[in-house]
Amino acid sequence: MNHKQALKHNIFEIISQSAEELQLDCFVIGGFVRDYFLERGNAKDIDIVAIGSGIELAQQVSKNLPHQPKVQVFKTYGTAMLCYDDIEIEFVGARKESYTEDSRNPVVEDGTLEDDQNRRDFTINALALSLNQDNFGVLLDPFNGVEDLDKGIIRTPLDPNITYSDDPLRMMRAIRFATQLNFTIEKKSLNAIKKNKDRIKIITKERIVVELNKILESDTPSIGFMLLEKTGLLDYILPELTALKGIDEIEGQRHKDNFYHTLEVVDNIAKTTDNLWLRWAALLHDIGKAPTKKFQKKIGWTFHAHEFVGAKMVYKLFKRLKMPLNDKMKFVQKMVLMSSRPIVLASEVTDSAVRRLIFDAGEHVDDLMTLCEADITTKNPKKFKRYHKNFKLVRDKIEEVEERDRVRNFQPPVSGEEIMKAFNLKPSKEIGIIKDAIKEAILEGEIPNEHEAAFQLMIEKGKELGLTTA
Ligand code: CTP
Repeated sequence: MNHKQALKHNIFEIISQSAEELQLDCFVIGGFVRDYFLERGNAKDIDIVAIGSGIELAQQVSKNLPHQPKVQVFKTYGTAMLCYDDIEIEFVGARKESYTEDSRNPVVEDGTLEDDQNRRDFTINALALSLNQDNFGVLLDPFNGVEDLDKGIIRTPLDPNITYSDDPLRMMRAIRFATQLNFTIEKKSLNAIKKNKDRIKIITKERIVVELNKILESDTPSIGFMLLEKTGLLDYILPELTALKGIDEIEGQRHKDNFYHTLEVVDNIAKTTDNLWLRWAALLHDIGKAPTKKFQKKIGWTFHAHEFVGAKMVYKLFKRLKMPLNDKMKFVQKMVLMSSRPIVLASEVTDSAVRRLIFDAGEHVDDLMTLCEADITTKNPKKFKRYHKNFKLVRDKIEEVEERDRVRNFQPPVSGEEIMKAFNLKPSKEIGIIKDAIKEAILEGEIPNEHEAAFQLMIEKGKELGLTTA
């Protein structure tokens, strides 16, 4: 069967023409072909394999394109890249690779298309479409990758022990593709991942995080985390999560398995937000529960201050994984720290508690509510309904209180300057005391968030402190 319709973009004709001029064969391979069969939309990355020099082919293609785009050459890898029409096109000469025990960097030799397909990670990523003039659009699928796409199977072209040991990042990729596509990893492959899991240590943290993020960005991230757990990789990557596994029982009292609970929360939140960092917050919201777990007679299982401990762990975890220690990390910390706050509101919704919540969560109050709603995993349908209903009330209340009191980005209605002027004061602790009293009164609903009322309270508080107006 011919697949010319996959190659409608004029770039393929130009590559084909250029290869003809250089008298070499070339093919489009990898993700582009896979996504064409999966009908996953327009790929923005195209990989071309040349039987010969990929760099020369890239240069020839550039010559044949309008404006002759710049060719970026990566000599060490024998690859070249150019951009055309918002598409990144990477060129590589077909190669044979062999790897040594302690490195991801292979010994590379020139090879045939078949050699090149052999060294690829999965059968579904080894599909190639010919760009040669005599068989343009013909599929080359030596490992039945199309059949695996139909059946939904992740399988390696070679013995999986070789494929994973050669490049251990592929263990993460297998799990990532299984999650994104809702595919099953073939049993032999899964066993090979279990066997080779230690080799993940030679992979840089940054590349591991790229895959973790893709798992988290999928529709059902739990598929990936279950596989990471099952294969033993999670212990290396996120031991904070595996520590949440298991249920203890003392004197007939049990607590829930916080690992599976966490995965449910992540799946829930994936249905309501695409915000990657909020999904990270869902994944990490209970990590403080492992180190704080205690059994107390009469009370039962407690996780005292787990939110506080968890927020601290977020920093260490981000640092260890070489993730950015910026405002994204701070956002995740804040969500973890505040993750239990709205829960008390689920039973009683008072204006002042809502005002405090808005004040503390600031611009992130909606995200916090989204996290807390995802955190409802009770299997009791009555409770499930009641909690959701109450959170809906909290959301309505937030809107109502916010409209009236505007505490989301709270600015004190009376400034320190004004207090100093009113009482003829130099900078002193009294100013802080008065400002705090005003903030508290607003949050408690004793006075409105307005200048006039705040000014009156300032005078009263000043008197109490023995100050006289200027
Ligand atoms: N590849 C591989 N082993 C890797 C990475 C990539 O064999 N560790 C091969 C696969 O054939 C893959 C191709 O290189 O299809 C391109 O890799 P990449 O662009 O990283 O992935 P895609 O398959 O295009 O998928 P995605 O864009 O979703 O990452």
